[in-house]
Amino acid sequence: MNSKPCILVTGGTGFIGSHTAVALLQAGFETVIIDNLSNSYHEVIDRIDTITGTRPAFHRVDMRDDQSLNEIFSLHQFDAVIHFAALKAVSDSVDQPLLYYHNNLVSLLNLINACMQHKTDKLVFSSSCTVYGQPEQLPVTENTPVQKPHSPYGNTKKISEEILRDCSAASLLNVISLRYFNPCGAHDTGLIGEFPIGKPNNLMPVITQTAAGIIPQFEIFGNNYNTPDGSCIRDYIHISDLADAHVKALERLIRKQNDSCFEVFNVGTGTGISVLEMVNAFERLTGIKLKHTISGRRAGDIEQIWADTSKAENVLGWKAKLTLDDMILTAWKWQQQLTQKTVYTK
Ligand code: NAD
Ligand code: UFG
Repeated sequence: MNSKPCILVTGGTGFIGSHTAVALLQAGFETVIIDNLSNSYHEVIDRIDTITGTRPAFHRVDMRDDQSLNEIFSLHQFDAVIHFAALKAVSDSVDQPLLYYHNNLVSLLNLINACMQHKTDKLVFSSSCTVYGQPEQLPVTENTPVQKPHSPYGNTKKISEEILRDCSAASLLNVISLRYFNPCGAHDTGLIGEFPIGKPNNLMPVITQTAAGIIPQFEIFGNNYNTPDGSCIRDYIHISDLADAHVKALERLIRKQNDSCFEVFNVGTGTGISVLEMVNAFERLTGIKLKHTISGRRAGDIEQIWADTSKAENVLGWKAKLTLDDMILTAWKWQQQLTQKTVYTK
């Protein structure tokens, strides 16, 4: 192994991948990014360079193309991979299931194949709390049963975990699957953040774009749920904390500290926040009144979920440090920076 372990970050110009690339470079890892830029921009590499003082190697590759992917593995000797690259819009996946299955699953299969051929046996996978559906008991632990997914996107996460579990059982790979709760916020420099192409679906970019006047008003999807204020509850986690969880997972694999060849960790804060609480907190912190209406429930939404994070704390040695205020303030700083300067070109 190199003195500096070399990590392949797939989907590394995307939201979570770019913050993780920063965390990896700052933790002393050599970092190689691949992305097809279908949902991100090349300029992110410049931003990572500005933040860290190190320019990660970047290759524009579509992971569905196994030959191109193998060429990247021939150029670098990877000690481990973090696999972010995927399509992630839940409602799009309902309209275009084949695109989602093809993109997310073929990319994963090609990646596992390339890992086999080039003797890279450590992989961190981007999973999601969506695999739990609406759990009967809260908070959810890693032993909470996985349920039938609500969308083709969710199903790609469930199937991907099954593929990885089977490959690791056959001694092909050591895998840590991180089940993210709701990532939001942005890097504290305001240089990288979430950049949804087209109309955003997730609550935080919807809120910040409304505050910026890009969206005239937004809908709160339902206030008649069985929750204290009637709106849905999620476990929002700051993107920089989430990035750090990847560094911890990677270190565990590289140091061969994993107890089994397939491990799962919930990555959340352990605190449930309702939509109305989020809106009120944003208004309190920024002084901006958010124009919104209360509309009907959004199809496929679960009522409430938050994580039991004790496994990540006790086993991985990771715990979220940043607060809801940090999530809101960094997301707002990022939005203002986007509105004032803009920025990225294809
Ligand atoms: P993102 O869209 O910002 O990043 C994903 C990146 O993958 C994009 O840059 C995109 O261009 C790239 N990509 C997609 N298909 C590709 C392909 N075939 N070849 C090469 N590159 C490809 O999304 P994100 O929010 O950073 O999510 C990263 C991962 O985390 C995804 O796997 C997503 O499903 C998972 N996840 C995200 C959330 C969330 O709320 N953001 C929650 C749970 C899990
Ligand atoms: N919401 C609104 N109005 C909006 C957008 C969202 O009221 O305009 C509400 C939703 O109804 C939900 C909450 O805000 O109650 C959070 O919604 P998001 O769309 O931000 O997040 P989800 O929990 O629905 O899903 C997200 C990702 C999924 C991922 C999941 C778990 O979109 O890909 O978190 O990680 F699987």
